[in-house]
Amino acid sequence: SEEKAELKERIRRLLKEKEAVLVAHYYVDPDLQDLAEETGGCVSDSLEMARFGRDHPAKTLVVAGVRFMGETAKILSPEKTILMPDLEATCSLDLGCPADEFAAFCDQHPDRTVVVYANTSAAVKARADWMVTSSIGLDIVKHLHEQGKKILWAPDRHLGSYIQKQTGADMLLWQGSCIVHDEFKGIELDLLKAEYPDAKVLVHPESPANVVAQADVVGSTTQLINAAVTLPATQFIVATDNGILHKMRAAAPGKHFIEAPTAGNSATCKSCAHCPWMAMNGLKNLAEVLESGANEVFVDPAIGKEAVRAIDRMLDFAA
Ligand code: 13P
Ligand code: SF4
Repeated sequence: SEEKAELKERIRRLLKEKEAVLVAHYYVDPDLQDLAEETGGCVSDSLEMARFGRDHPAKTLVVAGVRFMGETAKILSPEKTILMPDLEATCSLDLGCPADEFAAFCDQHPDRTVVVYANTSAAVKARADWMVTSSIGLDIVKHLHEQGKKILWAPDRHLGSYIQKQTGADMLLWQGSCIVHDEFKGIELDLLKAEYPDAKVLVHPESPANVVAQADVVGSTTQLINAAVTLPATQFIVATDNGILHKMRAAAPGKHFIEAPTAGNSATCKSCAHCPWMAMNGLKNLAEVLESGANEVFVDPAIGKEAVRAIDRMLDFAA
C-alpha cells in the first residue's frame, strides 16, 4: 500500500541520516527483513546477528527481534547505541528463567560447567561459563563432553535433551520451553509426512522430541534455510516460526514449503507457528524509534562485563 511504501522510504532515509544499521531476525515482518538486507544490514539467526552487530562500524544498531538479541548486541558493543522497535518483545525462555532462581540452581551444582542458550537475560548469561545458540550448541557441548565436563544447561529443555542425546554428555536440564515450538505435534506430523512422502522435514531444535525425531535436518534458522536451498528435494515440511518462509521461498524459488502441524489454529492458539514477541516489530514502530531515538537498550555495565565472557567464548569457538 501507499502507507507502507512511505514508511519504508522514511526508514531508508532515517537509517542513512542517523548512520544506523538494521539487524533483523528471520521471524520478523518480511518487510523488515527485506529492508535490513537492502540497506546493508543483515537478516540472520542469533549467532550471525551477534557477530554482525559486533563487527559493523555503525554507531547505532537497530535490532528487530526480541529483547535478548538487543541485549547481546549491547553487551558486545557497549559503546554503540542499540535501539529496538519495542522493548517489551521478550521470549518465553527468558521469562521462564529468572536470574535469582537460576543462580540458586547453579549454586547447588558447583561441579558443573554452566551452558546457557542465547535466549536468556544478561544476568543469566553473567552467571554462565558459555553462551550458545541453536547453530553451535551441539558442537560446543560435544567439545565440553570430550573434555570430561559435566554440564548444567538452561533454559530450553527440548534443545537440551536433543543435544544430550546426540552427544551423550552428562547434562542437567532447566525445564524451560518456547511457546511457539512447543506447539508442533509429532503424531500430526507423522500423518502429514504420509501425505507428502517425498517431502524433507526441517525442524528447529526447540521443538518437542517426537517432532525432532522425524527431522531430516535439525538446525538454527540459517541452517534450515541453507538446507532448503541445498537438499535435492522440491517439497519441505517446516517446523519453526512461519516468518522463516519468506526467506526460504526467496532463497529456494520453485520449491514448495508446508508448515508443520500445530495443536490449534490462529483463533485458538496465539503462539502457533508465529512468535507473538517477534510480531511486535513493525514498520511503524521501527520508523518511530529511528526518528526519536527512544527504546534504547541498556545493560548494567557490571553485568555486561560478566556476560561478555560467556558470549566471547562462543564467538571464539565459532571463529
Ligand atoms: P535461531 O538462533 O535459530 O535463529 O533461533 C532463535 C530463536 O529465538 C528461535 O526461536
Ligand atoms: Fe523465544 Fe520461541 Fe519467540 Fe524464539 S520463537 S523468541 S524461542 S518465544
